[in-house]
Amino acid sequence: MPRLITHLCLVAAIGLAACGGSQTTNTTPDTPTQPSGPMLREQTSLPIGVALGVGSFEPASSIRYSPQASQLRHLAASEFSSVVAENVMKPEYIHPQEQQYHWNDGDYLVQFAQQNNMRIHGHTLVWHNALPSWMSNYSGNWESMLADHITTIVSHYSDSINSWDVVNEAFLDDGSLRSSIWSSHIPDYLAKAYTLARAADPDADLYYNDYNIEAMPKKLDAVLKMVTDFRTRNIPIDGIGFQMHIDRYWPSTNEIRQAFSRCVAMGLKVRISELDIRMNPNNTATALTPELAEAQRQRYRDVITTYLSTVPAELRGGITVWGLTDALSWTPWYYKIPDWPLLFDANFQRKPAWTGMSEALQATP
Ligand code: G3I
Repeated sequence: MPRLITHLCLVAAIGLAACGGSQTTNTTPDTPTQPSGPMLREQTSLPIGVALGVGSFEPASSIRYSPQASQLRHLAASEFSSVVAENVMKPEYIHPQEQQYHWNDGDYLVQFAQQNNMRIHGHTLVWHNALPSWMSNYSGNWESMLADHITTIVSHYSDSINSWDVVNEAFLDDGSLRSSIWSSHIPDYLAKAYTLARAADPDADLYYNDYNIEAMPKKLDAVLKMVTDFRTRNIPIDGIGFQMHIDRYWPSTNEIRQAFSRCVAMGLKVRISELDIRMNPNNTATALTPELAEAQRQRYRDVITTYLSTVPAELRGGITVWGLTDALSWTPWYYKIPDWPLLFDANFQRKPAWTGMSEALQATP
């Protein structure tokens, strides 16, 4: 999970926007017009994805159990061409006991995606977080356990899942290898994980996924050093997932461009895998004002434009936002401050952020 990044930048007083043009005496505030235009998935052949809740343990966001499940399914299928499970394909939920796999929720998401002609990205096979207790306390043969875990899951979905986050967040921001149950018990676990995933599915794109690699060169150094090592040993890996849990100020599009460029130079596919753009990192706002919404439109436009102008079409793994509406985002509870980081508001309405993505998609082939 991304660390709380404190910003020293001063937040300029937000002046009242001068009302220009209207000569009427209309006293009611202009209600912003609803962004209109074709669905995002109709604007590009690039996979435009969204993270979705599915399980009963995520009742607000679940496309299966939420009281708003039908609206969630409709919006997701209308606007997006790719899905990823926000949680149900993590070890904690899909492999709750050593001899027991829970397919039901993942299979529901796969069926939903297939019924709506959507790609499916698998998240995630190996992570230090969202682990079932039996795994954390395991005392058997760790390499056999890893092999069973990856082989069983990837084989189960080999006819439906197009790409996987094989390993998620294996490095710390300083570039050192994160200490985890995997690093502690399995020498060379990263290479073994990708080898096992490839053996289970010869066709799926295999990604390494992480946060802050778009802005911390030492962290990206470590990731690309791993890729270089893999290539000397014929260990398969196809791409890098940049989570992109960013905010209105950080990182700069130039930093993002430099990071993408390093992957492109190595012939790696690049996914924006978990995009959300927090607009209240300094906790100075209590609502998404029109000024903040406009700034968010520009930021979404600039980030997507940077991706499309830096990553050639054949290396674009797609763009996924990490949640359907602002009301379902993980950021307010994680950072403990209000925020509105996604493309749709709590009423399933397109925001100016949606327009920003649309503008970028339509401007860049
Ligand atoms: O509500 C249930 C509770 O009933 C149950 O007892 C408990 C068991 O662990 O789970 C609870 O669900 C919570 C779940 O979200 C659904 O809301 C979990 O506590 C909570 O840890 C989980 O947080 C998820 C987090 O990853 C950790 O897995 C977030 O939804 C999810 O958005 C977040 O996503 C991660 C990516 O996978 C990796 N990159 C960073 C990103 C943001 O942290």
